[in-house]
Amino acid sequence: MKILLIGSGGREHALAWAFKQNPKCQELYCIPGNAGIAAVAKCLEIDILDNNEILRFCRNKGIDFVMIGPEGPLDNGLVDLLESNEILSLGPTKNAAMLETSKAFTKMICSKKDIPTARYKVASTENEALSYLNEFHEPYVIKDDGLAAGKGVFIAKNEKEAREALKKIFRIKPDTTSVVIEEFLDGEEASLFILTDGYDLLILGSAQDHKRAFDNDCGPNTGGMGAYSPASNITPRIEKKIIDRIITPTLDEMREKGTPFCGILYAGLMIKNDEPYLIEYNARLGDPECQVLAIRLGAQLLDVLFNCAQKALLETKINYADDFGIAVVLASKGYPGKYQKGEEIIGLGNISENDEIQVFHSGTALDGVKIVSNGGRVLSITTRSEDLESARKKVYDALTIIQCKGGFYRKDIGCKRSQK
Ligand code: AMP
Ligand code: GLY
Repeated sequence: MKILLIGSGGREHALAWAFKQNPKCQELYCIPGNAGIAAVAKCLEIDILDNNEILRFCRNKGIDFVMIGPEGPLDNGLVDLLESNEILSLGPTKNAAMLETSKAFTKMICSKKDIPTARYKVASTENEALSYLNEFHEPYVIKDDGLAAGKGVFIAKNEKEAREALKKIFRIKPDTTSVVIEEFLDGEEASLFILTDGYDLLILGSAQDHKRAFDNDCGPNTGGMGAYSPASNITPRIEKKIIDRIITPTLDEMREKGTPFCGILYAGLMIKNDEPYLIEYNARLGDPECQVLAIRLGAQLLDVLFNCAQKALLETKINYADDFGIAVVLASKGYPGKYQKGEEIIGLGNISENDEIQVFHSGTALDGVKIVSNGGRVLSITTRSEDLESARKKVYDALTIIQCKGGFYRKDIGCKRSQK
């Protein structure tokens, strides 16, 4: 099979690594990839938002399957174009991807289907939004309706901060059409990943991300500084509640609207007193959550993703070992704010196969023969083990070997679980 992967992060490197272990993967291409992916796939300098160029490439190469990592191409209608040209891909159409691209859209589905989520209001002007603030109390949760690369959510400690957040959204981003103001949910977060062809569904796995930049959940929100799988707070009982009360009604509604959701539905959840609440949906795999699912699933990840695209989920089984995966992100100093690129990464050659570590590249580039940093998140050091504590030890031992000037990482990935 000839496969094209779209994306350039640790998520895509983990997918490439898993695909390459499957004998069905004969040729692997990646647009645009990174220095790590280049070691296992042929990387191409094509803009991920240039649908026609991607289609042309698929036709020229006779690509059998396109796996799309990030949300941008989904929102840009890549799946719609590939589908109408009979090229198999995994991901939702532009309209179905609205579960990620519009928070107001998802909230409307929650209201219609009585899905547990934070109480909310949608406002389309700053004045309207301000008038809703008195229906909520501190802390206020304010969300830009559209895609904002993880920067559209403001948790405002008080009314002054809430007003500032609204000003930022409406005045600094004049193309903003609406905001969602919602009740703050406390509890513990977790993510559940569902494979669905719009009709059938299969649970791909669960994970817990660590979104804040620094230890003990301090500092600014990031794309994710590390993850482990399975999530300790998604017990089989809670998983059933998530499927019955959240996922199934959502998929029903998408079908009823005439826009069935096919692909990976990533449910971001808050779990409180054994009750799950939907925080948000994403229409793709998470990064670094994909790394911990991939390390646990290995080659079969390709089979399950391909079967989902082929609408053959009923014949698909996922065989998880009784193990844990963990990924710790090495980030550039300053991330998620401004950071330097081009810092040399050293020590990669000192990780041996016996260490059972996969170093997935997140933001790297080749500079001659050197591998250098090329993004806020640089590497995701990933491993698996029978228990989380030994997985943690392996991953943190590896992090003492790898260096990148100014790089930092959280020391407490997976700790919540270890303490239980
Ligand atoms: P989102 O992009 O919607 O996942 O939001 C980013 C992060 O903001 C989430 O991972 C949560 O940590 C936090 N968050 C979002 N909505 C809420 C909420 N209603 N209550 C508490 N925290 C929230
Ligand atoms: N790790 C969070 C995300 O991929 O959205």
